[in-house]
Amino acid sequence: MSTGLITAAYLMAAILFILALAGLSKQETAQTGNTYGIIGMAIALIATIASPGVEAFGYILIAMVVGSAIGLRLAMKVEMTQMPELVAILHSFVGLAAVLVGFNSYLDHGNLTGALLTIHLSEVYLGIFIGAVTFTGSVVAFGKLRGIFSSKSLMLPQRHKMNLLAIIVTLVMMVQFVRLGGDMNLLLIMTAIALLFGIHMVASIGGADMPVVVSMLNSYSGWSAAAAGFMLSNDLLIVTGALVGSSGAILSYIMCKAMNRSFISVIAGGFGTNVVISDDGADQGTHEETTAEVVADMLKNSTNVIIAPGYGMAVAQAQYPVYEVTRKLKEMGINVRFGIHPVAGRLPGHMNVLLAEAKVPYDIVMEMDEINDDFSDTDTVLVIGANDTVNPSAQDDPNSPIAGMPILEVWNAENVIVFKRSMNPGYAGVQNPLFFKENTKMLFGDAKDSVENILKAL
Ligand code: TAP
Repeated sequence: MSTGLITAAYLMAAILFILALAGLSKQETAQTGNTYGIIGMAIALIATIASPGVEAFGYILIAMVVGSAIGLRLAMKVEMTQMPELVAILHSFVGLAAVLVGFNSYLDHGNLTGALLTIHLSEVYLGIFIGAVTFTGSVVAFGKLRGIFSSKSLMLPQRHKMNLLAIIVTLVMMVQFVRLGGDMNLLLIMTAIALLFGIHMVASIGGADMPVVVSMLNSYSGWSAAAAGFMLSNDLLIVTGALVGSSGAILSYIMCKAMNRSFISVIAGGFGTNVVISDDGADQGTHEETTAEVVADMLKNSTNVIIAPGYGMAVAQAQYPVYEVTRKLKEMGINVRFGIHPVAGRLPGHMNVLLAEAKVPYDIVMEMDEINDDFSDTDTVLVIGANDTVNPSAQDDPNSPIAGMPILEVWNAENVIVFKRSMNPGYAGVQNPLFFKENTKMLFGDAKDSVENILKAL
């Protein structure tokens, strides 16, 4: 392919990626956005392979066949609830790729001298640093989301000072690395520091703050790709990396706002760790159980109902019977709406995707801020598989790991029904005083079975 044609193809791919991001920002246009992204990536791949200077097509083909086979298998097999893990491990590949590209560029820097060599060495150094942090940080995030590592934060003494020291040492070594015209030992030491920094940064973040970590690593992976683009002199990789990096940063900012965390401390790492885990063993009082039949009667006698779904609804795949119940209640003239917490579930927009899948109309799906004041005028709230996102200790207990996180104030309603299987805590690992409130009743069992039983009783 001629250089002109490749540039045109890259431009086209970049435009398609921007359209993809725009499409993905709204539920109604998400599928179209995804299609733009797929076409853009296909164009980018073809143009890159057809670029002058690309050789060894046999190896590239083998890598593509193996990669596509693994990717396809994973995508077909992955459960919606495992998406964040998949995203985290994919981010780690981007980080690792940036590290490998960095070392490759370092070893093969041609005949560069003077300012060009300085720029090249800086690119290599920074590219490897960002890539290595992204790589290990994403692997730890994957382990935490998968339950391989504890979701509790690792609280090493002097952790903030250690992080600061790692950054200062890395910067000092960068100056020396460039001054010496590229020293392999310094590069290797910095890589080791960056790998450890990535592990420590994510390990020191508590479970409840994982949404911010995933979006932050998303952003870091974009910057790693952009760094690789600079080293490979590939304009499209620079543009794509910058798009992912900046959209990930915007998402992190939105997540920080949703969780009431400081954006700067997130970027610096080790945030949300100054809290002392509250006494989970403390006596919270007694809880009261109820049955599907009683809940069905309560719903029939309600005028306003709000459903607050959470991760458990995704696990149980209860969204379909939930929609059936909604439809039935609406036919009875009851006002039913959904209240969605920004970090309910395990990935941004998780609940919205599930509800859209079950064909719940968008106009009854409200964001937390839109619905939080309405709970006091609500007769019945169904908390279906949500826990941390409806935990009042976020407001009442300054020592709670979720302290300060805005939550759905469901307890202001007349009756609250909590659907879960046991008294176990939610993702953040803290007990929920909501379950022991006078107006709360527990409906134990798999959420799908419970909702189906209510449907029958209606
Ligand atoms: P969680 O706090 O995770 O609680 C989910 C609840 O669902 C659990 O209490 C569990 O109780 C129940 N459950 C699980 N399977 C169930 C089933 N089959 N039937 C009925 N109940 C079931 O939920 P949440 O309120 O959605 O909060 C999300 C949490 O995840 C937050 O802490 C958030 O920070 C974190 N997080 C979010 C994200 C994003 S981006 N959304 C990413 C990573 C982490 P039982 O075991 O007793 O049934």
